[in-house]
Formats: sequence, structure tokens, C-alpha cells
Amino acid sequence: MIPALLKENLAQRIADAATNREAAVDVMKELQHHYGWLTDEALGEASVLLGLSSLQVEELATFYEMIYRRPVGRHVVHVCDSISCWAVGGDTLLKSLAQLLGIAPGSTTADGMITLLPCSCLGNCGEAPCMMIGEKQYGRLTPEAGAQIMSALRDDPPAGSTKKPPLV
Ligand code: FES
Repeated sequence: MIPALLKENLAQRIADAATNREAAVDVMKELQHHYGWLTDEALGEASVLLGLSSLQVEELATFYEMIYRRPVGRHVVHVCDSISCWAVGGDTLLKSLAQLLGIAPGSTTADGMITLLPCSCLGNCGEAPCMMIGEKQYGRLTPEAGAQIMSALRDDPPAGSTKKPPLV
């Protein structure tokens, strides 16, 4: 159950939106931030707050790639696999990151630190090949640059941990 303050905040955002549907992604992102992913409980809360059916919220949630209906790692790495990135090495980048992390695309490292997800165009085609982590975009990536970014993510251990987890 979300805290009363967050609930009030979301209710206000919905009230300020032109339609409840317009606020849906914003609400789902905030609930995802609270729970770590959009759990069934979160989806139900979004449904009540937005005045939409669970099915309507589920449809919206599964449409947006940045909404996660399954548990994800501490960092979610979205690697663009659309045409502009694919044409200049996006596929090589994704494969190199998967190999480095020891996971298949779509999976999470055993330590729960990194989830690797292929995604559609990030709207940054001029900087292809691209990826996005959180709100930050990375462009003109090589496998080497990607490896450096993964190393920096590894240096950001889970709260309460002082141990640097291995990459694989
Ligand atoms: S095709 Fe990759 S950002 Fe557009």
C-alpha cells in the first residue's frame, strides 16, 4: 500500500490532467518508483486512483517499455534495437553487453544489479547506437564504452551493501 502523501500527490496530478488517461503513465511511473516495478498491487492502486479498469491500466502498462510488469534490477539498461541503431552496431552493442553481464537480453544479473532490455527507438537516432539507463541517454556507443558504463553501474551497490558485486 502506498503512503498517504504519495496517494494525495498522485490524486492531485490526476486532477490537474486534462483526462485521467493522460496522467496514467505518470502515475504508473511513480508507483513503479515506489515498488521497484509495477506490481499487481500497484496496478490495482493505479486503477482505483485513475478510475480506469485494471484491464485498461494493464493495456497501458504493457504498451510502454519503461513500465515494468516484472521485477527488474537496480539499474535497467535499455538498448535500442530499432533500425538506425541496428545499422551502426546496435546489435553488436547488445550482444557485447549480454556477454559481459553473463545474461540474455531481457534478463537480470544474479546479483539483481542490472536488467538488460532491448527497446524500440529512443528518439536519439542521430547519436546511434544508443541506450538509456534511468532518465539518461547514452549515444555513439561502442562495446568498450558500454563496458565502461556497466562498470560504473557495478560501483553503485545496493543500499546497505559495502561489497562491490562481480559483473558475472
Ligand atoms: S533507432 Fe535507436 S534511437 Fe532511434
